[in-house]
Amino acid sequence: MSKPSILVVRAIFPEVLDKLAQYFTVESNTGDQDWEPGELIQRLQGKAGALTTGGQRIDAALLAACPQLRIVANMAVGYNNFDLDAMTAAGVQGTNTPDVLSETTADFGFALLMATARRITESEHFLRAGSWKQWRYDMFAGAEIHGSRLGIIGMGRIGQGVARRGAHGFGMEVVYHNRSRLTPAMEAECKARYVSKDELLRTADHVVLVLPYTAGSHHTIGAPELALMKPTATLVNIARGGIVDDMALAQALRERRIASAGLDVFEGEPKVHPDLLALPNVVLTPHIASATVGTRLAMANLAADNLIAFFEGRGLLTPVNSPVF
Ligand code: GLV
Repeated sequence: MSKPSILVVRAIFPEVLDKLAQYFTVESNTGDQDWEPGELIQRLQGKAGALTTGGQRIDAALLAACPQLRIVANMAVGYNNFDLDAMTAAGVQGTNTPDVLSETTADFGFALLMATARRITESEHFLRAGSWKQWRYDMFAGAEIHGSRLGIIGMGRIGQGVARRGAHGFGMEVVYHNRSRLTPAMEAECKARYVSKDELLRTADHVVLVLPYTAGSHHTIGAPELALMKPTATLVNIARGGIVDDMALAQALRERRIASAGLDVFEGEPKVHPDLLALPNVVLTPHIASATVGTRLAMANLAADNLIAFFEGRGLLTPVNSPVF
């Protein structure tokens, strides 16, 4: 029996490509440049499966042009690049990569919080520029982490990881806001208390965003929300671009209406709003929260294993929709 054909849309670990090649005829993106939608459609012709990396839009137009496509395995936990209704209607399975990245991403959220509140990159730039001439009592004095109040918006697996780190590691008082409340047992494990979004924004010393991007979460943090925050507060976004109104954030940072921000994701990334680039009180990283070698390998393997399970007719590991075949 001939092997199904699949498309791997960006470079991934060679060992995962080798594994896929045992089961599939694989076309991969050797140039590793994101394909324009037209080229993606052309390359998907005759492909029954695709491994995407989160940046490729899978929508009704693409699905209509690729009638042989049956599954798209996203190498990301977020899948806002999928038009899930269109995929389900077209009978196309989607999968993602939850769990394997939760702790790594929570580590990074905490690293970004620390770097931002303690002004690590700003002070490093100062040092590298040769500007450090003497000690000064308030030089790069930042915000306290231990004992402060940590507000988490989005309390899924990654949010819970951030909460545990804050509460157990740094003695922070953790409050959270989420679509649904955690069970009392989970709240106790995370030492986290549920509050309204307004209370969280008004009272938290540090706000970390870890919620999925949907039409409903677009600009969860815009000018009105920034206006509620403390002038000493830190905002960290490890969720998705679009959850924060980047222009409003740049203005709030410029006017010191909040103290600082740490951003791993951006509206329209990889473009970054030029106003953010010009500000000293923001730490910027290129969407690397899950980027450790082990975690990225686990994500690639999970995406590959979903493709293999699907074509072997076995249960999917991490489906995100239930199309009727
Ligand atoms: C990364 O942003 C992911 O969704 O895995």
